[in-house]
Amino acid sequence: MPAIVLIGAQWGDEGKGKATDLLGSRVDYVVKFNGGNNAGHTVVVGDEKYALHLLPSGILTPGVTPVIANGVVVDIEVLFEELDALVSRGLDVSRLLISANAHVITQYHRTIDKVTERFLGKRQIGTTGRGIGPAYADKINRVGIRIQDLFDANILRQKVEGALDQKNHLLVKVYNRRAIAVDEVVDELLGYADRLRPMVADTGLVLNQALDAGKTVLFEGGQATMLDVDHGTYPFVTSSNATSGGAATGSGVAPNRFDRVIGIVKAYTTRVGAGPFPTELFDEAGEFLRTAGFEFGTTTGRPRRTGWYDAPVARYAARINGITDFVLTKLDVLTGLDAIPVCVGYDIDGVRFDEVPVNQSDFHHAVPIYQEFPGWSEDITGVTEFEKLPKNARDYVLALERISGSRISAIGVGPGRDAIVVRHDLLG
Ligand code: GDP
Ligand code: IMO
Ligand code: MG
Repeated sequence: MPAIVLIGAQWGDEGKGKATDLLGSRVDYVVKFNGGNNAGHTVVVGDEKYALHLLPSGILTPGVTPVIANGVVVDIEVLFEELDALVSRGLDVSRLLISANAHVITQYHRTIDKVTERFLGKRQIGTTGRGIGPAYADKINRVGIRIQDLFDANILRQKVEGALDQKNHLLVKVYNRRAIAVDEVVDELLGYADRLRPMVADTGLVLNQALDAGKTVLFEGGQATMLDVDHGTYPFVTSSNATSGGAATGSGVAPNRFDRVIGIVKAYTTRVGAGPFPTELFDEAGEFLRTAGFEFGTTTGRPRRTGWYDAPVARYAARINGITDFVLTKLDVLTGLDAIPVCVGYDIDGVRFDEVPVNQSDFHHAVPIYQEFPGWSEDITGVTEFEKLPKNARDYVLALERISGSRISAIGVGPGRDAIVVRHDLLG
């Protein structure tokens, strides 16, 4: 079972970092294939808590080779900061490989991210402000800067000039900001080159050779299905393919090499930033989920929007990604509720929909149709076997399994590395 994709099945923050970390000791490579430092993964190892943004969570496991593949956008200053922070806590990060083809986030991408959001006013996306969207826009516009450009000062200068030409007009004339000097950007980027050089590789080749040699490679998605630029709630999405297809284009490993797709799904739902969210709660139940689940952004610290589990969203994710196994996280957060509603379909302007509607306005109007399940009050955080969970907790999991489009192979019962109930081996 050598190539495994792990992706978010909702709107992010499902616990992908913890799931990757759980598999870490059994994999040889962990690959980040999309997004950048907009991601925020919190991993709890013993008493230590790690917050990772750009680096794949596999970096916490000794012996694993972490890879930042071509589909990622890299803020190099953030990269070095994150590496330094891990080194200061005694971790070995020397194996990290970065694709020569990955694109670079520069200061002008960060600036443009912030000013364009401000200009959108009520139509704001609520981005993380890290320059992700503008860096991907430059990639698609063919004016992006790639990691390999940092090793040729002439090419770098030409490319930065080309990229800033239009942008400075825009910044000065439309957004009323100062122009950004080519030299400033070029000097900053060249200053990173020496430290970066030993990490840069043809990662597509490395990964294919690793698979040929029978190694196990885990592809760790950032963001999630409903934030995918093609399949998510556009325009309230991130600017990359966070679905399993992105693992192929974002890494240079062909789709027919993937053996398994693991979807991470929370036992309820959260979302950060703007956009439709049918099961969102505005009452004390929503506050309960936020408090009990500690739902505050790892990257921006924003309180996350909270709501009940949405089965059509899970089925949609199962279909778009080809999910073979779900990991259901944060079941423990629901402990203490008398009854747990689950969305099984939508009422959209008087018409029943069983699946996520293709029309975005319909999704904005979707009113959830709920089925209620009885809750449990026993503490489940120390449970390691499915049979030892309270009957109502087991029934809740089995009900979700029936309506979510794939089997639930593991269940998170607490933030710690070991707080997990495994029903089916995820790599077996
Ligand atoms: P990611 O972006 O998908 O990696 O998820 P985040 O790290 O942003 O958010 C998930 C949060 O839930 C983290 O703080 C994890 O420590 C925590 N977490 C993961 N699994 C569980 C679980 O089963 N129970 C509880 N209570 N917390 C969990
Ligand atoms: P992880 O990997 C939750 C959201 C932002 C915003 C939209 C676009 O931790 O699950 P961007 O900065 O990407 O252009 O913002 O996407 N967003 C996330 N929400 N988890 C994430 O990552 C996210 N990454 C981006 O809040 O609504
Ligand atoms: Mg997160």
